[in-house]
Amino acid sequence: MKPLLKAFRKEKMSRPPFWFMRQAGRYLPEYREIRSKTANFLEMCYTPSKASEVTLQPIRRFGMDAAIIFSDILVIPDALGVDVRFEEKKGPILVPVQTETELDKLAYNAGKLAPVYEALRATKAALPVETTLIGFAGSPWTLACYTVQGKSDKDFHAVRMVAIKNKPFFSRLIALLTQSVIDHCKEQINAGAEVIQLFDSWSGVLSEQEFDEWVIEPTQKIVAALKKAYPQIPVIGFPRQAGTKYRNYVLKTKVDGVSIDSSVSLEYAAKELSGLCVVQGNLDPVILAEDKEATLKQAQKIVSILGGNNPFIFNLGHGILPHTPTEHMQTLCDYLKNSAK
Ligand code: CP3
Repeated sequence: MKPLLKAFRKEKMSRPPFWFMRQAGRYLPEYREIRSKTANFLEMCYTPSKASEVTLQPIRRFGMDAAIIFSDILVIPDALGVDVRFEEKKGPILVPVQTETELDKLAYNAGKLAPVYEALRATKAALPVETTLIGFAGSPWTLACYTVQGKSDKDFHAVRMVAIKNKPFFSRLIALLTQSVIDHCKEQINAGAEVIQLFDSWSGVLSEQEFDEWVIEPTQKIVAALKKAYPQIPVIGFPRQAGTKYRNYVLKTKVDGVSIDSSVSLEYAAKELSGLCVVQGNLDPVILAEDKEATLKQAQKIVSILGGNNPFIFNLGHGILPHTPTEHMQTLCDYLKNSAK
């Protein structure tokens, strides 16, 4: 049994399994090399040989226990017919969808995502037998943030206002995104994904009531649909910055694992989450980028508090920063591989 999958079976392990969000990416020279020969970021995502190659790069170098397929959460709006582009140094730019008429024009075209599934198949065939392949999707709230706003934002106030002022429109958008996420995750599982992670990067900007409606309810539907079709595939939820709402998220959505950001206290996670599901996290990517000694100290603390008797996966609290020295990653991975109890 692969180490990462063992965690979901609550089997005793000699060390916690580990992988890192954004482990494929710009901090790796071999990624930058391929990226520099590719016209744009979406072309990387939709070229199976390239997407598969960059997924494998960090595994070859550092031997993580899982590979997350190289893609992006915004392939779903793209497949729905939203105009999605990635501009250098600016991030994603989408033509915003803000009215019922604009929403009427969207329709999910699964064929557009065929290259993602091909990349998963190629990656699965090339991975070491002990490495788990993770598929992923953005969660409906976070996808709605980019679809309505058209770009990144610090608090997505404008999107929350649309949800209040034009609730019929916003509910329809969330329903469409929820069904698209279910379809995309199912196809990823058919193509070889062994675990699914749902990224709700912007769940932290919501009030408790909004969180119940736009984060918990759609996630509940996604988890239920995936469980019905593939009861054996674990689902990890990542409601980033959910604070004290993490516990309710786990209880109500019935995710098999929860990824915690670096602001979550280890004591809270051990006491309130570890007994409910697999906890994953939560080293601060800023520490990893800046301070090798502090990284090891914090990793030790995380493993000692969360890696006890309850199932645990070591990860970061958010994605690796592009300027992270590869040497820091190497040191951390060496430590984790030798962290046998
Ligand atoms: O290694 C992995 O984790 C798998 C690949 C992956 C990417 N994006 C590749 C990527 C995953 C899982 C994502 C998820 C994603 N994408 C999220 C959720 C996680 C999070 O970070 O909160 C979000 C919000 C996005 C949307 C997105 N994609 C933004 C805002 C940006 C620009 C920011 C940036 O770092 O430049 C992207 C671009 C992106 N997605 C890059 C990568 C490697 C960088 C683009 C490049 O290489 O040119």
